[in-house]
Amino acid sequence: MNHPHEGGVGYNEVPNMHTGGVVPNPPPPLPPPPPPRRRLIPFRIVVRSLVAVSASIGVLALLILFIYWPRAVRVAVATATLAVFEVDRFDITPTTITPVLSYNLTAILAVSNPNRRVSVYYDRLQAVGFYEFQRFGRAALPVAFQGARRTDAVRAVLAGSLPMNFTFDAYPGHRRNGVFPVDLWVDGVVRYRFGKLTNTMVASTLKVRCSLELKLTVASGWVDCATWS
Ligand SMILES: *[C@@H]1O[C@H](CO)[C@@H](O)[C@H](O)[C@H]1NC(C)=O
Ligand SMILES: *[C@@H]1O[C@H](CO)[C@@H](O)[C@H](O)[C@H]1NC(C)=O
Repeated sequence: MNHPHEGGVGYNEVPNMHTGGVVPNPPPPLPPPPPPRRRLIPFRIVVRSLVAVSASIGVLALLILFIYWPRAVRVAVATATLAVFEVDRFDITPTTITPVLSYNLTAILAVSNPNRRVSVYYDRLQAVGFYEFQRFGRAALPVAFQGARRTDAVRAVLAGSLPMNFTFDAYPGHRRNGVFPVDLWVDGVVRYRFGKLTNTMVASTLKVRCSLELKLTVASGWVDCATWS
């Protein structure tokens, strides 16, 4: 009876001795939290400075973009003349022979680079004629480069003959008022160059549609073209 009790007391005393020795120590663990906070303050300063610097750089970049970002080139038809627009046959009944359209369209296009700090390079710029949703001719446009704030008069001559699928109502010569709705599409690739000292360029495709209402041999007035891309 006594042995287990004594033994129990003996064993209990030893752990008590140890805990008794350890108990005074717990108070010190409480102070440690402050040091990490003191270390966090310089870290926060660094992070906040980095955020501030990045924000400033971002704002500056946006400003530069805003100042330099190119405005799209503009195209208008200054004047256009349809000297010839006729079909070799006027069959009302469907036949196996396709009518041939003879055309001669001369247009003076006003091509503008509206940017003050951006020059423009043109690649494969061309004018394409459409009548009744059918393409009848195309012409390469002789403009390759434009400095800042420039407008050039570019001549496009679409002349030739081509088999066309027309509905009877669309036949040239059968239109009551003699007005031909001819669409001139101008397309190509435009490369914008920022400033004079840099070669940084942004390329984009250009596609504009100029809707013309033309009477034979009568020169049209100014027509702005709608930008499609
Ligand atoms: C097209 O018409 C113009 C006059 O508007 C003329 O000078 C030119 O020679 C014609 N071109 C062709 C290929 O017929
Ligand atoms: C005309 O249209 C028919 C079908 O509507 C087509 O098979 C033919 O290739 C067209 N011809 C031309 C010259 O576009």
